[in-house]
Amino acid sequence: MNEYDSELVRSILKKENYEFVTDERAADIVMLNTCAIREHAHRKVYGRVHTIRHTRGKASPVMIGILGCMATNLRQELFEDRTLKIDFIAGPDSYKRLPQLIREASDEGQKSYDVTLSEFETYSDIYPDAQDRANPSTASRVNAWIAVMRGCNNFCTFCVVPYTRGRERSRSPENVVDEVRRLSAEGFKQVTLLGQNVNSYRHDDYDFAYLMDEVSKVEGIERIRFTSPHPKDFPDRFLDLMASNPKICKHIHLPLQAGNNRILDMMNRTYTKEEFLTLVEKVRAKIPNVALTTDIIVGFPTETDEEFEDTLQVVKKAQFDSAFNFKYSERQGTVASKKYPDDVPEAIKTERIMCLNEVQKEITYQKNRAHIGEIQSVLLEPYPEAKNTNQMPGRTDGGKLVILPLGPYKGGDLVKVRITDATPHALKGQPV
Ligand code: 5AD
Ligand code: SF4
Repeated sequence: MNEYDSELVRSILKKENYEFVTDERAADIVMLNTCAIREHAHRKVYGRVHTIRHTRGKASPVMIGILGCMATNLRQELFEDRTLKIDFIAGPDSYKRLPQLIREASDEGQKSYDVTLSEFETYSDIYPDAQDRANPSTASRVNAWIAVMRGCNNFCTFCVVPYTRGRERSRSPENVVDEVRRLSAEGFKQVTLLGQNVNSYRHDDYDFAYLMDEVSKVEGIERIRFTSPHPKDFPDRFLDLMASNPKICKHIHLPLQAGNNRILDMMNRTYTKEEFLTLVEKVRAKIPNVALTTDIIVGFPTETDEEFEDTLQVVKKAQFDSAFNFKYSERQGTVASKKYPDDVPEAIKTERIMCLNEVQKEITYQKNRAHIGEIQSVLLEPYPEAKNTNQMPGRTDGGKLVILPLGPYKGGDLVKVRITDATPHALKGQPV
């Protein structure tokens, strides 16, 4: 979402004649689009601002702006920290005001900010062009992100997103399809529909299944992905559409978060482990080759060894293709931070995440090995020019990385590939 939001920002500022440079040292203004989801992301931003200030020094001053979720959450802290010297701050719903905020900060020398959250802003009138979207190092036109909804109403107790990004709101299906048509005309082969809660998409009477179906009718777009859904919104109609529509990739990122019912309840996830596993079974029955991935948090307040053991059991049963595992990190303003002291010691969190990573790594390895011998359709990613390599990366329909030898093909091509080998991290293949 932040990558996409940065594309929106490029688009908004380019209209005001700002020029974008890829070399930070050549910039008059540096903006960091920040994430507040975990402590790690937070610390990275502080580190980065200090590095920029240090390398530029007094001889070559630079304006620094903080965008995104940290802006919403930490406006005061960011401005008060004198070592950071932040010039302006814009939250996720304030990017259209950036030209004004920058003017205020540079012409009038004042610190400027806007972190107001909106119930309506979807940036539906801003279409980043191919250049705004291009990853500058690859000039890629393979995948384009599109946020179809923004915000979250779920209030999982550990999560800061409802506070930093505000309430759910969706773009109209016509508006999304219009953008997808443009992307197709610009040569993009894949679109990834984004939302903090993407399958809660709702515009008037139109739901996410309707939207996906409409998007899949756009000619030239060969693959459609989406992220991230919540397990509560998977009606049969949507799963049946996924199963029958060849353009919709057979991959669902299905965040489990925990495999113990007491913890799930404290997290306000609204499902039990049994319900989650029943959904997994249903998904696999309807979409036989589906790839399932997940997010898991270890060390939520009061989680015992036995309760963590339940998470391991669910992971073994669900057989995810891969998982992002995180240590619980208390976030300011969340229900958990007010109600539940962060009482699982860091050493226990580390022990649990290492154990979980180990179990998942073996499952991922077995899942990857099961593809050996298959013929898969692989969408090639741009050749990584920066890295001088004789390999070409691509993705299977299920989203797995495949490494191919260089050949007479380029980024954006869909090629048939025989999977010849697998590691816990990637597949290897030969075009057929
Ligand atoms: N601590 C640790 N992980 C978190 N996530 C969200 N909030 C927290 C937190 N406070 C994880 C969840 C979510 C993913 C994007 O980040 O697993 O699905
Ligand atoms: Fe956060 Fe839960 Fe909303 Fe996902 S669904 S963004 S974890 S509050």
